[in-house]
Amino acid sequence: MTLCFATNNQHKLAEVRLLLPKEISLVSLKDLGCNEELPEEQNTISGNSFQKAAYVFENYKVSCFADDSGLEVDALGGMPGVDSAHYAGPQRSFDDNMNLLLANLKGARKRSAQFKTVITLITRTNRAQFEGILRGEIINEKLGGSGFGYDPIFLPVGHSLTIAQMTMAQKNTISHRAIAVRKLVEFLTNNLTAESGK
Ligand code: IMP
Repeated sequence: MTLCFATNNQHKLAEVRLLLPKEISLVSLKDLGCNEELPEEQNTISGNSFQKAAYVFENYKVSCFADDSGLEVDALGGMPGVDSAHYAGPQRSFDDNMNLLLANLKGARKRSAQFKTVITLITRTNRAQFEGILRGEIINEKLGGSGFGYDPIFLPVGHSLTIAQMTMAQKNTISHRAIAVRKLVEFLTNNLTAESGK
């Protein structure tokens, strides 16, 4: 079956491409001729995930899935959460966001946090959501040059490297998005016959 991944984030596209079986042919928004920003006006990660998928399904009439993700820091009551992309302002700079977070956690002993992803799948016959969570802690400095977003300051539980010090393949063995994608793939595999050709 053909599925559109409703994202303009090339990092996410590359990560998810590696996780899908060959029976699923992944197309991007660019492939659909969709160059606009997708709406993200809800106040929850799952709400934004649904809004993005619904926008693409309704406007482009294709089976699609969207993800919305965020970093939830325990000592900040779950912030930046749904505001992760623009935590430090509308410029949506990864560096500015990390700098603000490190400043807000300065001196804090409790540094536990989690990445959360919610994927929404919408096809003609199915609507479903899949969640993935990765627990870890926010370290005091930025380490590593791969990945994106808050990866350089996030140390996953049980690991000695930040996500930005891992390869994409390593990130894909543990990440919040990979966990949600595996649930999506399992769902699609169980429903593939019904969906194929749609
Ligand atoms: P989005 O709205 O799903 O694109 O994600 C919001 C923000 O969360 C992104 O701009 C990143 O700052 C952060 N984020 C999401 N996923 C990741 C990840 O895998 N690593 C690091 N940061 C992430």
